[in-house]
Amino acid sequence: MKTTTLSLRKLKGQRPIVAATAYDALTARYAAEAGVDLLLVGDSVGNTLLGFANTIPVTLDMMVHHTSAVARARPEALVVADVPFVEAHFEFKQVLASCQRLMQVAGAEAVKIEGGSGLAGKIGRIVDAGVPVMGHLGLQPQQVQVLGRYRRFGVKPAEAEQLLEDALALERAGVFAVVAEMVEPNLARTMTETLKVPLIGIGSGPGCDGQILVSTDLLGFVPDAMPSFAHAFAAVGDEMKRGFAAYVMAVRAGKFPK
Ligand code: KIV
Repeated sequence: MKTTTLSLRKLKGQRPIVAATAYDALTARYAAEAGVDLLLVGDSVGNTLLGFANTIPVTLDMMVHHTSAVARARPEALVVADVPFVEAHFEFKQVLASCQRLMQVAGAEAVKIEGGSGLAGKIGRIVDAGVPVMGHLGLQPQQVQVLGRYRRFGVKPAEAEQLLEDALALERAGVFAVVAEMVEPNLARTMTETLKVPLIGIGSGPGCDGQILVSTDLLGFVPDAMPSFAHAFAAVGDEMKRGFAAYVMAVRAGKFPK
């Protein structure tokens, strides 16, 4: 059955939500057929598939391109598209226009916006306009140039308090779920227990309502660049290399085509 923002919310307290990134129709199809509930067309496409060092060079046009590909697979999973670098900080009308493109042109069913209380007012207006929004707290990769490095969030009490406040502000603004990235696991558990909407963790421990992983990590495309919290559930990178090597050998040996 098709997952909607409403049915996803209802999973809270029922069973763990399983989410993964997808950037193309093929991956979207396989992931949805395997039972993934939510497909995030993440701006991580920049550093996973497009060869950038981080998510900052990813533009709205790129997000529309990749979201369209995922949506064309017509997956049963909910398709959520990332609002890319600084877009969410533009004037309301411009942010809304970006959300409109991601939904009307690309076929996303919801968007994800990185940011806390400072964006809650704007997020509330976006939700009021009919755009379902998923929040993103803790490590916000779009802030990497300000942060200087990726790190764990919510270890210090003041930061933990702020994160909880941010999560509640996003919930009041009407988000249907919140992603918590690299949040201290005990805090992530408290946030999960406090919020009425699902908290989907990445690198935030097992106490969340669900988990999200980057598909190239979980499929084991680049095992030597794996974040410490992730896990490879397959070795697709090795398998791809084996397939290409077999092809190369067959052609060079005159065994293909027959
Ligand atoms: O872009 C992305 O892949 C994300 C996940 C890390 C949650 O935002």
